[in-house]
Amino acid sequence: MSANAPNMHQTPAQQAADLRETLRHHEHQYYVLDHPEISDAEYDDLIRRLQAIEAEHPDVITPDSPTRRVGGKPREGFQKAGHSSPMLSLDNALDEAELRAFDNRVRELLGGAEYRYVAELKMDGLSLAARYRDGIFEQAITRGDGAIGEDVTENARTIRSLPLRTGASPTADPAFEARGEAVMHHKAFDRLNAQREEQGLSRFANPRNAAAGSLRLLEPGVTASRRLDFYAYFLLDAAGQPIFPSHWESLDWMAAHHFKVNPKRALCRDVEEVISFCNKYEAQREELPYEIDGVVIKIDSIAQQVQLGYTARAPRWAIAFKYAARQVETEVEDILVQVGRTGALTPVAVLAPKVVSGVMVSRATLHNEDEIGRLGLQIGDTVIVERSGDVIPKVVRVKMQGSRRRLFQMPAECPVCGGRVVREEGEAASRCINVNCPARLKESIRHFASRGVMSIDGLGDALIEQLVDGGLVKSVADLYTLTAGQLTALERMGPKSAANIVLNIDRSRFMPLPRVLGSLGIRFVGERTAELLAEHFGTMERIATATVEQLQEAQEVGPKVAESIAEFFREPQNQELIERLRAAGLMFEHMVRRRPDGPLAGFTFVLTGTLPTLKRDEAKFRIEAAGGKVAGSVSKKTTFVVAGEDAGSKLDKARQLEIPVIGETELLAMLPELK
Ligand code: IVH
Repeated sequence: MSANAPNMHQTPAQQAADLRETLRHHEHQYYVLDHPEISDAEYDDLIRRLQAIEAEHPDVITPDSPTRRVGGKPREGFQKAGHSSPMLSLDNALDEAELRAFDNRVRELLGGAEYRYVAELKMDGLSLAARYRDGIFEQAITRGDGAIGEDVTENARTIRSLPLRTGASPTADPAFEARGEAVMHHKAFDRLNAQREEQGLSRFANPRNAAAGSLRLLEPGVTASRRLDFYAYFLLDAAGQPIFPSHWESLDWMAAHHFKVNPKRALCRDVEEVISFCNKYEAQREELPYEIDGVVIKIDSIAQQVQLGYTARAPRWAIAFKYAARQVETEVEDILVQVGRTGALTPVAVLAPKVVSGVMVSRATLHNEDEIGRLGLQIGDTVIVERSGDVIPKVVRVKMQGSRRRLFQMPAECPVCGGRVVREEGEAASRCINVNCPARLKESIRHFASRGVMSIDGLGDALIEQLVDGGLVKSVADLYTLTAGQLTALERMGPKSAANIVLNIDRSRFMPLPRVLGSLGIRFVGERTAELLAEHFGTMERIATATVEQLQEAQEVGPKVAESIAEFFREPQNQELIERLRAAGLMFEHMVRRRPDGPLAGFTFVLTGTLPTLKRDEAKFRIEAAGGKVAGSVSKKTTFVVAGEDAGSKLDKARQLEIPVIGETELLAMLPELK
């Protein structure tokens, strides 16, 4: 790709066009082919370069620019939009016999002619029609009632695997339409639910609901963060009619024009081949990164589709083979209680182990007391357990009450530390209120060290267990006094890893205030709230001493969040923790506002490649703390380019513009001493 080293003689429009082409290539590699060629950081860097050009020259912005995927305007509600031709659903075949019956009808209706089937996975999401004009994405409409749906264009635009530009039209007419399924992969789904739990929001029951909910948000920025995918399965002209003579060809055309088409598809010569396709993927269902609920089988030839026509409800040329629900009947032998980071007690059903679609299930989450009440569940009952999109199985309903059933009661004392358990009014969860509860402590450390919080590499579950159980760590603050010697004495810990972990802990001292705030595990204070609080108050001190009213003066902080923050800082044990973290040298001041008097004031740095010891975050933070600026791309305004191993195009650019290139040693020499 040519745009990595932009030619300075190019106009901004040409530079932008080059960058877009490069970005599109990498998006396709990443989102459609699952084969990235560059790192996320390099991708972000390209996006930022394009954003910079577009910000400076708004006239070069095009509607299909990759930068348009985010930042579309929120809207009042969704407008209705009509479909070019009805979006129908399919009749179902629930077993092999029904599939063969379908095939017999088809054979009869086609009067002995040869025919072929296309078998595709039936992805469990929601169907969407994406309209294009002159090869550019124009509008997306949900299925709605099949005739009229909702215009979700701005939200659909945030789906990375939905091409904003296809390069060509399949017909002479500039308008065409791709229909397909918007889905959420398991990974994105689990991440979303974990995040929601953290924020005290309810979980989505399955990826389909999560996908549907995400597409109907009024804030496209939020949809963008939800990571949806779009798999195309129909290509139609402006009138909603097929374009190519066969369905298979239309799938191929879309796959060749930037659409994500599920490669798990087959052209089958007869119903036997269709059945083996269905069986093959039923066996693999658990390993797929997304949820499927069956296989869609379509007659390949469009002429034959026309010949077969439609019933009142559905096409006669297609059918959905539905997999059996992944449910199993089993007995609840006991109900245990687990303690999480916030002290929340989660009841977990201990099941008589059963295999559900190839996976042994022996536990199911019951979420909280209310859920147990809703199910009317008691220990000893026979229940129906389902593995839906959720990785953790859940109890769907009580099938039969046990003859010696017994009521579950939330313990009054924490099962781990014996601390008092309380359930506050209006809350679903009961909590252990002992901040030093080992179960809470382990969860707290896990959270503290996790990526995106204090990012302490190497501090994994096994180590945390040993540290807490061995009494080496009684509070997250103790992490900062650990020595390599202490760690080396632990199981499976060599001197080198021990030294590395101590170094990583040490480094976390440079994490900016919002990260430190987020690390405390204050309920309802996630990444964004922490950022807004730091922005508003500037120091940990001011946040810790603010009243509930004052806290609400920060953006997006309502009474519930303010109360939770104030409550946290009122707790003497938390005050002590804060004091110890301050003594350990963590960042208690918000440094984003650059110090204009720092030694690096007026200097702009660009970082590229991997530096020998400094992490990207840390280098950036320390430069900024010293008054300098860190930019994403090299320009004439750059003072120094700091290059590490595998430095990329930025290094070439620096040479081209004759910007001085330095290494980590030189950078460290410019930075003020620590502490
Ligand atoms: S074809 C008239 N192909 O399953 C044909 N549908 O009732 C209608 N689905 O609403 C759909 N994957 O949301 C088709 N490869 C696929 C599909 C698929 C998932 C969904 C779609 C539709 C339902 C079928």
